[in-house]
Amino acid sequence: MKIIVAGTGFVGITHAAVCSEYGHEVYAYDIDSEKIAAYESKQRDRINHYVNEAGLAEIIAENMGRSLFFVNNLAPVIEGTEAIFLCLPTPPKPNGSSDLSFYFKALEDLSTLLANRKDQRRVLLINKSTVPVGTARQLERFLQDRGVTNFGIASNPEFLPEGDAVEKSRRPDRIVVGADTEEDFGICRRVYSQFVNHVRIQYLETTPETAESIKYVSNTLLLTYISFWNGVGARIGETFPNVRMEDMKRGVTSDGRISTWGSYVSNGAGGSCFGKDIRSLIYQLKSRSQSADLLESVYRINEYQKSYLVDRGESEAGFSFNQKTVALLGLSFKKKTNDMRDSSSLKVVESLLAKGVREIRAYDPMAISEARRYFDTNLNHLFERISYHDSVVEALKGCECVFVSTDWEEFRGLSHTIETHVRPGSLILDGRRMIPDFQHLVKAGYHYLAVGSPHIAPGE
Ligand SMILES: NC(=O)c1ccc[n+]([C@@H]2O[C@H](COP(=O)([O-])OP(=O)(O)OC[C@H]3O[C@@H](n4cnc5c(N)ncnc54)[C@H](O)[C@@H]3O)[C@@H](O)[C@H]2O)c1
Repeated sequence: MKIIVAGTGFVGITHAAVCSEYGHEVYAYDIDSEKIAAYESKQRDRINHYVNEAGLAEIIAENMGRSLFFVNNLAPVIEGTEAIFLCLPTPPKPNGSSDLSFYFKALEDLSTLLANRKDQRRVLLINKSTVPVGTARQLERFLQDRGVTNFGIASNPEFLPEGDAVEKSRRPDRIVVGADTEEDFGICRRVYSQFVNHVRIQYLETTPETAESIKYVSNTLLLTYISFWNGVGARIGETFPNVRMEDMKRGVTSDGRISTWGSYVSNGAGGSCFGKDIRSLIYQLKSRSQSADLLESVYRINEYQKSYLVDRGESEAGFSFNQKTVALLGLSFKKKTNDMRDSSSLKVVESLLAKGVREIRAYDPMAISEARRYFDTNLNHLFERISYHDSVVEALKGCECVFVSTDWEEFRGLSHTIETHVRPGSLILDGRRMIPDFQHLVKAGYHYLAVGSPHIAPGE
């Protein structure tokens, strides 16, 4: 099938690359010409600069020019196209609602091309962006009003987790397709032919509105589960002595009805989707006079969690951050990605700077160049206090506090490295419970404060 993928960010480039593996003829389109040039270069570093996902650069290199093509202009490729995937940004507005201006701007341009095409075979616009419930219907009217004929609309939400995007695109848990006609379901079945009737993959056909809702319910449910552990589990562990979080997890999740995924305590969940989607759903419900109390609490708990360890450092460990040097280990919102959207580290940096730290010595195996963009010294001169380092050991030099913010495997069990490079009496803030042998550090004279446990003073 001849397919266009509009928007080549995390979702679009992964989908385009994997679709090209199925043997479709895929045209990946973006208005960002530098991004398109990076993909076309086939150079891993340049591709990773935009989307750093294992296996992605290899698929692009393998299929480019055969089944995968990059374009800055859709006019030459529109004829004969059967499916157009919309993988466009839908960022939050300040009031939490979804900003659909990028989305409809792209569709304005597309509608002109579609209205004027010579080949009048049916074309299906398949939405992968996360959009408010009812957007597919709105899109249908939008295209009709612009004279586009013989088209269909489908909602096909994307569930890929960053860090495992290629793997999960190749072997998704489910494919959800919301459409109105058998003909449009048929086009999607041809796109995803290897997943239809698959024994392990749920291939679900439903209405566009149900498909749009499934995405919001899924993401807000995942965040609710994470926030339950943070808002309840962590609070219990921090309040009562001798509560072991790792044992609590085992004890609770041995009940088959309770998920092991998400049953951990942490300094909050970041990423481009959870916070944005829950705020959008809150807005969608409240603007229709519905209650969103549960969702509002979940959002608040997650945001609070991101930097509360810094406050606990002051209130529980009696540590003053003023003029101190802090090593910040981890900047991306989770391991295996360079994505810093809504990352807890953003809140940690904001909080540390507000408390007057002298220097933040940051290290992350993937996200340093992203961090330089986020902490642009032209936007805030306080960001000059951040220095970037090539290794954990470099970041630890001269620090009086260590904050572990991301769950990178290389941060697991850092006690020996800390003991070698950080002077005793320093404060270790463990936002991911990455240091299981913390007792060793405490014995060696360090303060240890982890999410889900009370402060442990040296020698305790
Ligand atoms: N990132 C994720 O993990 C994830 C997962 C599931 C769903 N989603 C949803 O998918 C959508 C896309 O997310 P993303 O993370 O890929 O976003 P992104 O910002 O990484 O990528 C969007 C791309 O669209 C391009 N673009 C903007 N306007 C355009 C236009 N007029 N024409 C063509 N291209 C245009 C941008 O240049 C960018 O490359 C969002 O709605 C998001 O909520 C994201």
